Amino acid sequence: MNTRYAPLFEGVQLPNGVELKNKFVLAPLTHVSSNDDGTPTDAEIEYMRKRSNGVGLALTAATNVTDLGKAFPGQPSIVRDSDIEEQRKIADAMKANGAKAIMQIHHGGVQALPSQTATGESAGPSAITMQSFGEPEPHDAREITPEEIDETIKAFGEATRRAIEAGFDGVEIHGANHYIIHQFVSPYFNKRTDKWGEDRYLFAMEVVDEVVNTVKEHGNPDFIIGYRFSPEEPQTPGIDMEITETLIGKLVEKPLDYLHVSLFDIHSTTRDGKYVGIERIELLHKWIGGRMPLIGIGSIFTPDQALEAVESGNVDLLGLGRALLLDPDFVNKIEDGKEEEITNVFDPERADKHELTEPLWEQFYKGFYPVPRKDQ
Ligand SMILES: Cc1cc2nc3c(=O)[nH]c(=O)nc-3n(C[C@H](O)[C@H](O)[C@H](O)COP(=O)(O)O)c2cc1C
Repeated sequence: MNTRYAPLFEGVQLPNGVELKNKFVLAPLTHVSSNDDGTPTDAEIEYMRKRSNGVGLALTAATNVTDLGKAFPGQPSIVRDSDIEEQRKIADAMKANGAKAIMQIHHGGVQALPSQTATGESAGPSAITMQSFGEPEPHDAREITPEEIDETIKAFGEATRRAIEAGFDGVEIHGANHYIIHQFVSPYFNKRTDKWGEDRYLFAMEVVDEVVNTVKEHGNPDFIIGYRFSPEEPQTPGIDMEITETLIGKLVEKPLDYLHVSLFDIHSTTRDGKYVGIERIELLHKWIGGRMPLIGIGSIFTPDQALEAVESGNVDLLGLGRALLLDPDFVNKIEDGKEEEITNVFDPERADKHELTEPLWEQFYKGFYPVPRKDQ
């Protein structure tokens, strides 16, 4: 290895004592490749094994915790006990080369797809008409009832128990990207007048407590619990950096092992408000104040960009999404001193289709996600 990249391969200790072998994290990446019932396909297992090979911490695709929360076709399921043995195949594949395997637990809320949910409806904090993942037309989502809120919180706990039983090393609570936990925090999505609207952080905190208590009851002290959040949303009123500052203040009081920001550009700056123009990652790292590691992420496509992010001192761990989709050996090639051989451009002509699953390759081919392309 070129010694200048050595800082990327320094181990990291999480608050619960678990040692990660390096600073690289496989981002949670929806692959739309599970069977219709959420059980893994052989192609998905192989894809997860390859993408986890090299990183210290590896995250699954968003995995749904209730039938009402399903937000993608081909989404993995941890809804019922029969999923435990199925998801064990994913955990084993992810751990095969020394990564810690984390299941991202998820509920789509108003973004769940009526075409995918068991009852053909979707529900979240408040009724809304919106277009979500791949939908040609908007759908109507209804307000979730207080009883369903309690059931949903419990479902995050049940999903955690199943993840423990399936052999995962941890769970990540998906509080980002406009899904249900994010929706409860957001003044744009949450217009309730009951306790869930009066305290918009309550749902997130109850989910965290449910997961923490489940781990105390069913897991070992080294089971990892992470939380992912989106720091700002475009709507006004919407989540802004002041709301995120409050959220972080609450999260750092919880026995979590890391926080994970969802960004498409690690150097993006705050949109408006009193922190306008400052790099979000810098603010977040300052607010967390070393109480738990922060995973930073967003448009890291080269080893030098990775190094610069880590040396900025604003991230403790570094997430890679599209870089690992384009080249599953991104990390291994740096470690082996072969960084010149990294593929960081999508080539629609490649015979091996970047070793992606067929549905994921098709999404890239059709331009569903922004990515550097050879044919443009
Ligand atoms: C194909 C694809 C699927 C994604 N699926 C998820 C997901 O399931 N859960 C999630 O929290 N973020 C998801 N994201 C966001 C990524 O985790 C990540 O934040 C984003 O891609 C930015 O990182 P990158 O620039 O390294 O790709 C997805 C992104 C892509 C490109």
